[in-house]
This record gives sequence, structure tokens and C-alpha cells, in this order.
Amino acid sequence: MVSERLAAPVLGAVPGYMPARASSVAEGVDQVFAFIFWLSAFFLALIVVLTVVFVVRYRKRPSRLEPEPSPSHDLRLELLWSGIPLALVFVLFGVSTKTYSRMTTLDPGAAPLRIQVTARKWSWWFDHPGGKGAGELHLVVGRPTELVMASADVIHSLYVPDFRLKQDVVPGRFTRMTFTPVLPGTFPVVCAEFCGTDHSRMSAMATVHPDQASFDAWAREGVAPAASLVELGKKVFLSKGCVGCHSTDGSPRVGPTLKNLWGRSEKFADGTEALVDESYVRESVLRPAARITAGFANVMPPVPLDEREIQGLCAYLQALKDGP
Ligand code: CUA
Repeated sequence: MVSERLAAPVLGAVPGYMPARASSVAEGVDQVFAFIFWLSAFFLALIVVLTVVFVVRYRKRPSRLEPEPSPSHDLRLELLWSGIPLALVFVLFGVSTKTYSRMTTLDPGAAPLRIQVTARKWSWWFDHPGGKGAGELHLVVGRPTELVMASADVIHSLYVPDFRLKQDVVPGRFTRMTFTPVLPGTFPVVCAEFCGTDHSRMSAMATVHPDQASFDAWAREGVAPAASLVELGKKVFLSKGCVGCHSTDGSPRVGPTLKNLWGRSEKFADGTEALVDESYVRESVLRPAARITAGFANVMPPVPLDEREIQGLCAYLQALKDGP
């Protein structure tokens, strides 16, 4: 998943691929990055050139067999090569602190959009204001945004390359990230902290709406109860992270496939068996560690679904058995 849009080339920018600068903090991050890049390039060139010059100039020659006398100490030189790096790291500290503070303080202006982010193996969940939850992130151009992030299991890291933002999501605490989107469009969201088998597939999309009306229209739709239980179940399956580990086509993945699962007798790691019915589905969702299907690892986190969502999931499993 790679952004189609690239950052506009600017004087002094680092050459090569850079995704679009789609948030208020992106420009500052790119400036700090370019500064470090060109500083490193300058010193790399300087050191390599001086090395070559000295190797050639002071090589062994027939007329020069003994080492030349050299001074043992030069105070001015030592002050110079301590002072210049010290000044440079202070400049770096200043420019990066300025950029970092923008990632932790809300921009003034419109009322901030506060979104709760939940990370779990291996999916993202975004609860937007007004009750709309989704597996995708929705934002508004120009509206200051705060993401409050929690993890249901291990350490994940929310990374949006086009926003130049990355923040660890740590179990047992909340982490925050603030910015203002500046470009409408869709941008990839990925996990940047290795979190297990499907870490590399733990991705989502961020949609930045061009105006508040467009966001409101999206936030309203689907908040009413879904039309049918099967539809609701399918939505739960696709949006609550089930699809990250369970297939619907019969192929086993991290977890057992859901195709033809309903109504069959499932064998467990401890040798017991049980019929896959409503109460088994309920237990598997809320307390997945209670009974582990033989041949699979105990890796599924509890998924806090409500009654209706569990009902929907059961209806969806039945449809997967009857359907093609
Ligand atoms: Cu979540 Cu890697």
C-alpha cells in the first residue's frame, strides 16, 4: 500500500521518494530530516576527502622513512572540534523540539476532532465522535485532530507516512498524537511495531474529507441498526478484526476458517469436543482462551462485542455454511 501522491519537490529536500505532506507537522519533520541528511552528507564528504588527501600526501616515500615530528597538543583545534559539534546538536535539539511539540499540542482554530483508537492483533479500530466506529480513520481538512490510542494486547505503533506521524500504542496506558490534516484524500495507516504473525497486514486507510459536511454525512450513515442480522454479522466480521485471522473460503490462517464452521463438532487442544452453536461462538469471542481449537495457537484477544453483534455473527456463520 503506497501513496500515489508524492511530496512537492522543494529546495534542499532529500532526493528520492517521499509521500505527500498531508498534515500540519509533515513540513517540519521533512525540514528536520533534510537538515540531518545534508549535515551527514557534508561531514561524510569532508572526512572521505581529507582521508584520501592525507593518505596520498603522507604516504611512505624513499626520502621520508621516519615519521615527521608532530605537535602533541593544540588548544584552539580542540576547542574548535568540540565547539562546532556542540553548536550543531543544540541547533538539532531546537528544531526537532519545535516540530515535536506540534505533535503533542492541538493547533488553535476549529473545535478539535477527538478520535479513540484501539489497536489489537491485527487490526485498527477508530471510534469517531457521534458514535461511529470503523476500521478506517476519517478526518476533516483543516480541523485540528487528536488521536487517543489504547492497545488491547501488545505494543503496536500507529504510523501514517503521509502525515509524518508515528506513535507507539502501549497496553495499560493511553498515548496521544495531535495534528491537522492539510490535504483531502486517502492515506495508508500501518503498524510500525512488530506485533506478531500478521503485523505486516495490520493496516487501514485514513480518509481526509474536504469539508465538515462530507465527514458528517459519513458519520451519520450506518449508525442506525443494520438492516439484517447477516449484514450486521458480516460488518462485525470485517470491521472488528476477525478478518485479520479467519478466512471465509475454507483456508486455515492464524485461526480456523469460518466456512462450514457453524453446526460442526469442533475438536480442542485438550481432547474434548463441542458443537459450534450460539453459546460456543459467544465464548470464543468474549473468552477465546477458554477452549483452543486443536492445531491452532492461543493468540486471539477477547473481542468485546455486544449481544446483537454476537447474534449477527452467528447469523453470518450460518450464511457461510448455507451459501456457496
Ligand atoms: Cu500491530 Cu504490528
